[in-house]
Parts: sequence; structure tokens; C-alpha cells
Amino acid sequence: MTQGTMLYEGKAKKIFATDQPDRVIQYFKDDATAFNAQKRGTIVEKGIVNNKVSERLFRVLESAGVSTHFIERLSNREMLTKRVAIVPIEVVVRNMTAGSLVKRLGLKEGEPIEPPVVEFYYKNDALGDPLISEEHVRLMKLADPKIVDEIKQQARQINAVLQPFFKERKMILVDFKLEFGLHNGKLLLADEISPDTCRFWDAGTRESMDKDRFRKDLGKIEEAYQEVLRRVCGEEG
Ligand code: TMP
Ligand code: ASP
Repeated sequence: MTQGTMLYEGKAKKIFATDQPDRVIQYFKDDATAFNAQKRGTIVEKGIVNNKVSERLFRVLESAGVSTHFIERLSNREMLTKRVAIVPIEVVVRNMTAGSLVKRLGLKEGEPIEPPVVEFYYKNDALGDPLISEEHVRLMKLADPKIVDEIKQQARQINAVLQPFFKERKMILVDFKLEFGLHNGKLLLADEISPDTCRFWDAGTRESMDKDRFRKDLGKIEEAYQEVLRRVCGEEG
């Protein structure tokens, strides 16, 4: 697989063309941003951790019948994927109160949410990714209503697979963000699932093991990412 021209550069990844038009390479960077890129930094070897953790989770999900864009991991920082048109909706699934939910609604942090809450955000940096309702999705024609139903169903199924996976590894899957894409009309789970896009708490101490350590300046950021890699993939970066 030959790497072609760069098609897109985001905050944490670059996307490259390949010699096959329907396949692309995702390159995972160490760059970290928070609060819509107002805070910037580097998390050493984050790209390697996020690539390997995403690979493992995409494989677990594929085995459970979830269709993803994942094809294979090419190197420490590169993953070969199907080329998709990203649906401009960030889907957040919440199992425990935390983050923007707590701020927006004045809730106490760390309370279980049962059944889990699924939220949609409009993927638009200029607007700061605002929370939207399904009616806004329809108003802006961000996705076909059938696709929206499929996204909601997939998000709940993905949560049902990942929650016990992390529990076995002594981690609480507090919440996470998903992105979906269309490939020849078929909905695929895309982007990444990693400590950048999930909240994980250690089941014993409830300490953050994810990007919240960077967002909130909690220290031991690299250590937390390596520990996630160890628990999820059984290895060090
Ligand atoms: P929130 O509580 O800040 O809305 O975040 C919910 C989840 O989504 C959390 O696991 C972190 C993830 N997330 C992203 O992946 N990208 C983002 O830009 C934001 C704001 C959150
Ligand atoms: N990735 C987001 C940004 O910098 C924010 C976050 O993950 O908190 O826009």
C-alpha cells in the first residue's frame, strides 16, 4: 500500500490517499488540543497508543457485528481504512454523569446513567461543535432520517459491547464520542476510539485515564495513555 497525497489534516490525525481510490491511511499525531483548540500541547506517543487502541476496539466491534472503516494497522501510527464521507454529527454516549453534561445541566458528577444517554453534536469547529437535537439534524439535512435511526441503534450496540470490555479491564467507560461515515451508501463506524475520544476511569480509584488529564492539567498524562494501552492491548507502546 503506497501512501499518496495528504487529503486532510485534522487536530489529531492526517488522512492520506493510497493507490486505491476507496482506501485511505489515517496517521495518528501526538498533537493534543482541547476546548476547540484554545489549549494545545503534545502527548508523547499518544498517536501510537490511539492507533493501537483503536485497532483493538474496531476488531472487537467487528467481531460483534458492527461495520467499521478499519481494514488493517500498517505501522505504529498508521491505519488503513475504507474511505468514507463523514456524517457531520459527533455522537456521544454517556454511562455516567461527567464533562459537559454536568456543566450544562448542573448535575453531580459520577452518577450512573441508566439507560445510557445518546447525544448529537454538529461537527463544526467554527461553531464549537454545538449540541443539537434530531430535529436540527433534519432541518440541516445532516443525514437521512433512516441513517439517523441506524446511527442511534449502532451507538447503543457499540456501548453494549464496549462497556463490558472495559469492565473486564478494571475501567469504567464513562462516556465516548463516535463518528460515522458512508462508504458506497453503507454506514460505517469511522474515525477513532481512544483515550482522546473516551472518558475512562480506573474502576478502583476512579482516577481519569484519558484526555481529561490534559484538559484539566492533572499530570501523568503519558503514563495514563500507556496504562490504557497496556490494559486494552496487553502491551507497552
Ligand atoms: P463532553 O462531556 O465534553 O461533551 O465530552 C463527551 C465525550 O466526548 C468525552 O468522552 C470526550 C469526547 N469528546 C471528543 O471526542 N471530542 C470533543 O471535541 C469533545 C468536546 C468531547
Ligand atoms: N478535541 C477538541 C478540540 O480541541 C476538544 C476536546 O477533545 O476536548 O477541539
